[in-house]
Amino acid sequence: MKLRINKASPFARKARILAREAGMARRIEEVETTVSPVAPNEDLARENPLIKIPALVTDAGEMLYDSAVICEYLDTLHDGRKLFPASGPQRFSALRRQALTDGILDAAVLCRYEIAVRPEALRWKDWIEGQKRKIFGGLGVLEAEAASWASDFDIGHIGAACVLGYLDFRFADWDWRARHPRLASWYQGVARRPSVSETAPA
Ligand code: BEZ
Repeated sequence: MKLRINKASPFARKARILAREAGMARRIEEVETTVSPVAPNEDLARENPLIKIPALVTDAGEMLYDSAVICEYLDTLHDGRKLFPASGPQRFSALRRQALTDGILDAAVLCRYEIAVRPEALRWKDWIEGQKRKIFGGLGVLEAEAASWASDFDIGHIGAACVLGYLDFRFADWDWRARHPRLASWYQGVARRPSVSETAPA
């Protein structure tokens, strides 16, 4: 299988962490891929018309995207502990948390593009504040839940690790730990998992 990634992308990191947790990393060729909202990558566009990573080409030649679909697909290919709970409340709690963390990441990546890519004269402060409201609203929900997570690690927790890692990587000055002590303590432990430490953005 070929997985198009970018080491800075928190969405690609979800799939990379899941592959390692599932013991499948050796079955996947990670292909570092340059992505930019203003300079489309034509190789990537042939595999994902949305020109986004991660994008997976399966052994059967099927092209899969986005991160949620790729992660769920990879989870069907191994016999170990499942990262997507099979059914019941646990499944929907994990899927809801994945949706929440994907939404936080969408907002954070949009902020990153607004700040790092958009010409300074065109930046819109209120729009950035609108995205930050989503990010910190979502972090507030994760903070309230984190005390009950114990050693659970499913697709929702993978998403939470990717959120916190991305905030450290791109927005360290926002100091998310200051108002989220339970998340900070949870992340300190999770960051030591090989799947998480090996995929940390450099
Ligand atoms: C980043 O550099 O922050 C980034 C790269 C790829 C996808 C999303 C974000």
